[in-house]
Amino acid sequence: MALLDRRGFGRLALGGTVAAVAAATSGCSAAPIEPAPGARPLRDRAAARGLEFGCEVQHLELRDPAYAAVVAREAAMIVPGTELKWGETEKVRGQPDYAAAEEIAAFAEAHGLRLRGHTAFWYGNMPPWAKAEMRGPDARAVMLKRVSDVVGHFRGRIFEWDVVNEAVEPKDGQPSRLRLAPFGRPVDYGWFADCFHAAHRADPKAKLYYNDYFVEGAMGMEEERRIGVLDFLSAMKRLGAPIHGFGTQSHLAVGRALAPARYARFLADVANLGLEIRVTELDVGDYKLPADIATRDQAVAAYARDYLKPVLAQPATRGVMAWGLRDRDSWLQKVIPRPDGLPERPSPLDDQLNRKPLWEGIGEAFDAAPMHHRSA
Ligand code: G3I
Repeated sequence: MALLDRRGFGRLALGGTVAAVAAATSGCSAAPIEPAPGARPLRDRAAARGLEFGCEVQHLELRDPAYAAVVAREAAMIVPGTELKWGETEKVRGQPDYAAAEEIAAFAEAHGLRLRGHTAFWYGNMPPWAKAEMRGPDARAVMLKRVSDVVGHFRGRIFEWDVVNEAVEPKDGQPSRLRLAPFGRPVDYGWFADCFHAAHRADPKAKLYYNDYFVEGAMGMEEERRIGVLDFLSAMKRLGAPIHGFGTQSHLAVGRALAPARYARFLADVANLGLEIRVTELDVGDYKLPADIATRDQAVAAYARDYLKPVLAQPATRGVMAWGLRDRDSWLQKVIPRPDGLPERPSPLDDQLNRKPLWEGIGEAFDAAPMHHRSA
């Protein structure tokens, strides 16, 4: 999501008032959403329904033993927030540095956690030299080498990749609704199908996903994005790309109108392409809510629980990744801050690693989900 998008999203989607907030959470029950003492970890509440729970991590944060212990307790899988991105792994062309990502891989291995890869190709985090190449005659070859290099380096250790991230952007005016960045010109679906082939050749056992955002709600822009994503996924299947799933990022905010019935139909259309579905980056912004923490926490928890209901009702859904477990680590603190300057509370745990109502809201969504039976 480009910074403008996020700020645009902040203004556009949340121009509502506290009344709108109440409407957005009107489905929440009267009873407060509170974690019971000693409640089972989210990974277990998910597994009890045949689902998976995991979270985004950052290698520097994992060096804190208290935080590391909570990640290992709550998550069955982890995904590096930035450490696998091109801009982080190949600042100097031809000199890849995977040290930070390897720290996270070692943590996953040491704690028996599955490791998700994010992301092999994304316009949003590229080294300057690569940005220049993407506008040149060798763009396709340079892009495919990046995909092969990073997926190949972690062959057998990353079970599932976001191979391509955020390739859809209706605002760019293409009939395909494909994003012009990072190429600065239209490219066809074949470029992205090649990314999936390159990833499959580099690690034939890895599950390969397409990942995107802002398809969850009621805005016209979101309907445009749903059409763009479905066209992208259909094209990948038509072109024979080895694609296995769709990651719906789910960066939410209380006050943003959801469209549960429409979203459920969209997810069914994705599943009917033979694809799995995973919530890949769940967080719930509270930047339109009043300052009171109890009010914010309850609204965030109810919003997340209500959001997850149609997603977890979809048999093709594999699970939910929170985009960070702890409030202070969230990207939202910097990118979509609260107008009153108070820290946001978008994550399942507070800064003291206590479980919050959002933690329970996610847990209740798992508890209420239909049983998911699946192959390996
Ligand atoms: O680690 C350095 C630190 O040493 C330095 O002092 C600091 C200076 O600002 O930067 C730190 O790196 C930052 C990194 O996050 C780790 O916190 C980068 O500047 C910053 O650009 C990077 O932002 C990440 C962003 O993607 C771009 O890669 C966010 O953490 C991450 O949450 C965000 O995640 C994206 C998904 O990949 C795709 N979907 C949207 C989502 C939110 O934007």
